[in-house]
Amino acid sequence: MIKADCLIAGCRELATCRGPIPKRREALNDIGVVENAWIAGRGGRIVFIGSEEEFLRSVRLEAGAVTIEADGLVGLPGFVDAHTHLPFAGSRANEFSLRIQGWTYQQLAAKGLGIRSTVRATRAASRGELRDLCLARLDEMLLHGTTTAEAKSGYGLNLADEIKQLEAVRDADAVHPVDLIPTFMGAHEIPDEFRDRKEDYLDLLIHTIVPAVRDQGLARFFDIFCEEDVFSLDETKRLAETALSAGFGLKIHADEFVPLGGTELAARMGAVSAEHLIVISESGLAALAGSDTAAVLLPNVPFFLMQDKRAPARRLIDSGAAVALASDFNPGSSMTSNMQWIVQLGVFTLRMTIEEALNAATANGAYAVREHEDRGSLEPGKIMDLVLCDLPSLPDLVYQVGRNPVKYVLKNGRLVVADGRTVYSP
Ligand code: NIG
Ligand code: FE
Repeated sequence: MIKADCLIAGCRELATCRGPIPKRREALNDIGVVENAWIAGRGGRIVFIGSEEEFLRSVRLEAGAVTIEADGLVGLPGFVDAHTHLPFAGSRANEFSLRIQGWTYQQLAAKGLGIRSTVRATRAASRGELRDLCLARLDEMLLHGTTTAEAKSGYGLNLADEIKQLEAVRDADAVHPVDLIPTFMGAHEIPDEFRDRKEDYLDLLIHTIVPAVRDQGLARFFDIFCEEDVFSLDETKRLAETALSAGFGLKIHADEFVPLGGTELAARMGAVSAEHLIVISESGLAALAGSDTAAVLLPNVPFFLMQDKRAPARRLIDSGAAVALASDFNPGSSMTSNMQWIVQLGVFTLRMTIEEALNAATANGAYAVREHEDRGSLEPGKIMDLVLCDLPSLPDLVYQVGRNPVKYVLKNGRLVVADGRTVYSP
């Protein structure tokens, strides 16, 4: 008999998003639905998924086991949000008003607004203040079904403040149910004090900040904004070499506004992912087809920046790229962490199917942070991170736009959201 300390009884429709992962092409359309599913876990991992009959035959609940009656609920894996800029301070609501009046993101950046204004606010915040901002945002994520999120620095842009951001991420991760995967993004922008001496900033990054972040074990990935007026292709290559030799996994913000060849470089250098890809070129598309480098699409960004262009999701999927969807939660170009909304935009604006979008926000999201062995899908052996929604059917997750149907969230097999409210104790 399989022993279990946690049971979800009778989930009407369960999307397991089970592997093989990453999912490509037609496999992206398979979300591994199990009807009337019973799901049991032990010690935070899934030990059984099957019918009531199989459950009664093969699983024994231990004394004190937690049971959730899920009749009429729809289940899915907790979302894995593979791209967020979580630890920032301040607001860019003013700048947003200017954008509504017609200013572009790049025009604002050239005026010293944009990322640089968030840098000023983040430098002024203490580690504790940043941690508390992260915690409030993580509650918001959890209530909408996200159980794992990547979190980038990149609003400190000097030694002390980059480290402060990453420490705030670690502090928040230690007490909050959402698991965080830290990414160092000192190469997010050129700070004001280095505006006319970019070379010196690259030196500071390469010789001082990167070794400190590595020595303190504060980040797993290293991200670079490869973009016109930010880091050129050559500079991105130099930084990427530094990242890889310091032992970080590589991520690149590529082809967001101007195609510089960042996607091709990402694939060539064995990056874990290339992100944005709104203006990806033909050679970029070819580079990602069948590549291990995930294509992380961020559909709220062009929506939020009121641009017409979209990442060519259909072509990426059809060519065999490992497509994931993420929020890019940040104060300038995507002020949401709601992965349900990201799935909805995947369908409405990228023309993905509901199944493709769901797999891209769970199983392939986990792949984009190389966590797919443990999370992102519901299979025996994996971490029991599961969301139960009050919906009549799975397609309603997209059909009922803008409503939060999350009723229960289990994290590591423990109930952390019940009746739409957080119930965890730190
Ligand atoms: O992914 N593109 C660069 N970084 C973020 C925006 C950050 C900001 O505007 O503060 C992005 O869109
Ligand atoms: Fe980003």
